[in-house]
Amino acid sequence: MRIIACFAATLDGKIGSAHNLRDRIGTRDDLAHLLNVRNQADAVLCGGETFRQHASIRKGSQQAVAPLQIILTQRFNLPPEASLFTKSSQSNPPVPILIVSPQPAPEALKAQYPTHVEWLCAGEGNPVPAILPYLEQKGIQTLMVEGGGHIMNLFLQAKAVQELYLTVCPLLLGGKDDPALVTGTGFWVAEAPRTEVLKADWLGQELYLHLKINYP
Ligand SMILES: NC(=O)c1ccc[n+]([C@@H]2O[C@H](COP(=O)([O-])OP(=O)(O)OC[C@H]3O[C@@H](n4cnc5c(N)ncnc54)[C@H](OP(=O)(O)O)[C@@H]3O)[C@@H](O)[C@H]2O)c1
Repeated sequence: MRIIACFAATLDGKIGSAHNLRDRIGTRDDLAHLLNVRNQADAVLCGGETFRQHASIRKGSQQAVAPLQIILTQRFNLPPEASLFTKSSQSNPPVPILIVSPQPAPEALKAQYPTHVEWLCAGEGNPVPAILPYLEQKGIQTLMVEGGGHIMNLFLQAKAVQELYLTVCPLLLGGKDDPALVTGTGFWVAEAPRTEVLKADWLGQELYLHLKINYP
């Protein structure tokens, strides 16, 4: 399975501003780029925080059918009234949704969501090693990791993500509470994932990088 990630980041590695997490740091061109990259994916995955900021169906610009929507949560704080859940049942077949958590979801909680939602208990620790065989078994060919930084960290720690589409945006945010591209305990320099440029394009003042990720 190919695993790609797509982010927009500031020059200081932030992916949003804590002052207003819904403010986009990229331009409309970057949004179009995100939707274009998403066309490659038959599954998209994000963390609970990212989901709560953009809780609608994630679909590429050219996709007739939405990819499998995967959300990672520990607290099950995913509003059942979110557009993803209410609109997913309106298409035929429904937009597939998978919710992954360390603990099994209580039955009373599951009852608040559409019946076609699938639930995966990945156990404690990094959930990526449990998620990947589950997706392989479903025949997923390209998984797109859409963030945020906590989730990107889990995929890097598991040495799972192979490519990064990164839009470098020409601003500096600098807040210590701003979400960052990778958020975790950090890597030692010798063990840090490294990138290799596959493609680089300027569009206005934004730099669109397609990077291969190598793990020492
Ligand atoms: N510029 C960009 O390209 C871009 C891309 C994506 C996101 N963003 C922004 O980044 C911010 C969010 O990033 P973030 O790093 O704070 O959060 P995040 O990575 O989106 O999500 C973290 C959440 O993931 C869940 N999670 C973490 N570890 C887990 C585990 N082991 N098993 C299951 N679930 C787990 C938890 O959800 P619960 O809280 O539900 O328990 C946790 O709060 C948002 O403001 C978003 O808008 C920007």
